[in-house]
Amino acid sequence: METSVRIAAASEHAALASLYEVWGYRAGIAAGDAVFVAERSGTVVGIVRRSREEGLTMLRGMYVGPSARRTRVGTSLLVAFVRDLGEEECYCIPFAHLTAFYGKAGFTVVPEAIAPASLAARLQRYRLEGHDVLLMHRATRGRPIDV
Ligand SMILES: CC(C)(COP(=O)(O)OP(=O)(O)OC[C@H]1O[C@@H](n2cnc3c(N)ncnc32)[C@H](O)[C@@H]1OP(=O)(O)O)[C@@H](O)C(=O)NCCC(=O)NCCS
Repeated sequence: METSVRIAAASEHAALASLYEVWGYRAGIAAGDAVFVAERSGTVVGIVRRSREEGLTMLRGMYVGPSARRTRVGTSLLVAFVRDLGEEECYCIPFAHLTAFYGKAGFTVVPEAIAPASLAARLQRYRLEGHDVLLMHRATRGRPIDV
């Protein structure tokens, strides 16, 4: 099935934040985020956002609607996200079981000892909440996309 990805207008953010909640993602959308939406036949099936936090560019809220998972929607979002990133470096804090998924788009695991302080703190917070997460980074000249 054909999937298209575009950056949503700011006027769509409230509706997309509601959809995020339905899917179980509660962090919402921040003002200034670039929100990428994947659509199939005009229906939003996946969302990811690029956020700027404490001077760092972050990939956040990669979510695919439950019925569309494992059908390459996440891959389509990741490809569009990385293309738009160009040579900007970027961090994300994914679940450990998704290391290979993000790795295909040029993200590599960052040893915690060299993590920016704000992200090291967030990592600890997520782990205290019971999530098995790690820090990944895509360098200024990340590997070409091979997803
Ligand atoms: C994780 C998620 C974004 C992946 O998107 P998707 O559209 O389902 O994934 P794709 O079909 O593009 O998967 C491509 C490859 O990534 C890997 N992958 C995807 N989901 C995975 C999972 N849950 N566990 C392990 N590997 C996974 C696989 O290698 C997969 O290839 P395969 O299906 O041939 O095995 C999506 O499943 C999702 O929204 N999950 C719930 C929310 C979540 O965990 N978000 C990520 C926060 S870090």
